[in-house]
Amino acid sequence: MKLLVTGGAGFIGSNFVHHTLATHPEWKPVVLDKLTYAGNLKNLEPALQQGRCEFVQLDICDRAVLDAVRGCDAVIHFAAESHVDRSIEDAAAFVRTNVDGTHNLIQACREAGVPRFLHVSTDEVYGSLGEEGEFTEESPLQPNSPYAATKAASDLLVLAYVRTHKFAAVVTRCSNNYGPYQFPEKFIPLMIAQAMAGERLPVYGKGSNVRDWIHVSDHCTALDAVLQRGREGEVYNIGGRCEKRNLEVAKLILATLGRSESLIQFVSDRKGHDLRYAINCEKLERELGWRPEIGFDQGLERTIAWYRENMPWLDDVRTGQYRDYFQKHYVQREKTFAP
Ligand code: NAD
Ligand code: TYD
Repeated sequence: MKLLVTGGAGFIGSNFVHHTLATHPEWKPVVLDKLTYAGNLKNLEPALQQGRCEFVQLDICDRAVLDAVRGCDAVIHFAAESHVDRSIEDAAAFVRTNVDGTHNLIQACREAGVPRFLHVSTDEVYGSLGEEGEFTEESPLQPNSPYAATKAASDLLVLAYVRTHKFAAVVTRCSNNYGPYQFPEKFIPLMIAQAMAGERLPVYGKGSNVRDWIHVSDHCTALDAVLQRGREGEVYNIGGRCEKRNLEVAKLILATLGRSESLIQFVSDRKGHDLRYAINCEKLERELGWRPEIGFDQGLERTIAWYRENMPWLDDVRTGQYRDYFQKHYVQREKTFAP
């Protein structure tokens, strides 16, 4: 299967590439990524150097995506602007990539006759919960952040094309991910990086907001199941059944790293901060037999160990050096990577 992975140099996309190479050696992943600040080709080493995965540097808003999707058996669409705080500062890139880019990609896939499209979305399209209840696939879309609004728009576009043009697509909505290769602007890797450096951990508000955490490996097995067996035109929620308050997570990270809780610094709350997310993923469990396998304590411990063992990766990201990798190692004419 020739599988195009948009956003494959980012956090979840690169984990998905590693997942497919380990579990479906016969699949041929091609990563299409613009390499924004969030794209890091080091996430794909050594797959790129061993030639097990191709790479195309391209913006999903570019008409040239048509050439990239031609001949693909499936497209899995991760590429997006993904950080809520950045969308609060300036949402223009979110509208461009998440809405226009997704639309451009849909059009290209239709024109090329791509037989399967998986749109990777988020539970944030449902908005915020109070202390009770959970999101099902029937919950109304009530996005609060500009990020979530652009993701909701892209979900609706995909579903409208399914309905209007019989576009062969399926949509997933997952809760908060954590694991290796996550950019240290997001909560868990930021807290780990700060704690390892003995620096302050900025916790918004009182740290009482709740997120439903899932290890990225469990997200990948769910995506794999939906890609292969999900029903066309359907939405599948994906979640880890693991609700935690932010303060609890920050304390757990400090305890695991043997650091004092005095490093926690309560800072101004995020504007429009969603209180709580909780995902009901019974549909996915019932229809496709998927289950999350990694408990939070074990997953967090593994993730902390990964960041500890991959200090050069973290240093490269924090100094911005990771952005030179492409220029240094990619042989444009041959479309290959040299060590
Ligand atoms: P990320 O920010 O780590 O990676 C995004 C990738 O997309 C980067 O490699 C970036 O270079 C690329 N990209 C951005 N704009 C592009 C463009 N115009 N053209 C081509 N490539 C572009 O994001 P992530 O956390 O890996 O999230 C991946 C997807 O999963 C997103 O669609 C996100 O909405 C969704 N999601 C994320 C989470 C989470 O907790 N991180 C949870 C649920 C759903
Ligand atoms: P984040 O990782 O940005 O994911 P999302 O906003 O998409 O859920 O944030 C997770 C939670 O952590 C969210 O409630 C905001 C909070 N947070 C902090 O308290 N401090 C921080 O520095 C960041 C980035 C997030």
